[in-house]
Amino acid sequence: MHTEIPSPHSPARKPHPTSPNAPAPGPARPKTLAIVNQKGGVGKTTTAINLGAALALEGLHVLLIDCDPQANTTGGLGFRRQKDDETPRLSLYDVLLGPTTLAEAIRPTSVPNMMLIPGSNHLIGASIELVSAPRREYRLRDAIAAHQQPFHFILLDCPPALDLLTLNALVAAEGLLVPLQAEYFALEGISELISTLDRVAQAFNPDLALEGVLLTMYDDRTNLSQQVTANLAEFFGDKMFKTTIPRNIRVAEAPSHGLPVGTYDPRSRGAEAYRELALELLERTGIQKPKSPATP
Ligand SMILES: Nc1ncnc2c1ncn2[C@@H]1O[C@H](COP(=O)(O)OP(=O)(O)O)[C@@H](O)[C@H]1O
Ligand SMILES: [Mg+2]
Repeated sequence: MHTEIPSPHSPARKPHPTSPNAPAPGPARPKTLAIVNQKGGVGKTTTAINLGAALALEGLHVLLIDCDPQANTTGGLGFRRQKDDETPRLSLYDVLLGPTTLAEAIRPTSVPNMMLIPGSNHLIGASIELVSAPRREYRLRDAIAAHQQPFHFILLDCPPALDLLTLNALVAAEGLLVPLQAEYFALEGISELISTLDRVAQAFNPDLALEGVLLTMYDDRTNLSQQVTANLAEFFGDKMFKTTIPRNIRVAEAPSHGLPVGTYDPRSRGAEAYRELALELLERTGIQKPKSPATP
């Protein structure tokens, strides 16, 4: 089905005038993916920024939500760190603790069609402050559900921990995207992650499933990565993305320019890999590109 949606600034689409009972076209619900691995440095943030941008450059409407107190997605998109004496910009912290809505905290990015809910170091306290809050596991899910503006994809960049912030992301998400480095210890912690997935699915979110496993910083020239990849493929089967992300200097440089690699150096191997990943994800999910790129 064609899933063209109105631009972020146009009013919500009205039901089709000729078929009053037909559901409005467009995605009923955005495809919400939590980018998660409790290990740090595996490429979660890099994937959130660059997969999000690659999807947006294909014309899809994308919302990135920075769930990490380190706020690297926010910084990597050119939002500078704030000084202590500055009025803090609204962030996911304000959305989770309320009464700020998603619409109030949302920011455009340098990539048309890609919006951001910034993270902030205030999120460090959120895990503790949320403990006594009502519906503490559902705060993010509720905020997304209350939001009117339609998106094709919502990507949640998670912190390197299985804490209450990650739990909020898992409860809000439909799929898990797990970046892994093809190294000897790649599977370490994965059984814990999978059992967390199962427990969250049972207790809070029956829709949650593993969407895919992505090999990042990949170097296929070494015997070790080939061997590890073969093991991972056996373990995960068709949950492994066919696309792998190579280690590429342009990917590492792009955040210091506040840009995703797709606009920093569109012809680099890194940009091409994230574009390929975006197309693979579209094929897997059956979500189609809008026919003409939507104007933001
Ligand atoms: N494909 C890549 N090529 C080169 N460097 C990468 C690549 N992916 C990630 N990096 C670098 O690895 C480091 C960790 O990546 P990051 O996305 O921040 O991981 P995480 O969010 O899981 O902690 C960062 O310095 C990032 O620039
Ligand atoms: Mg990160």
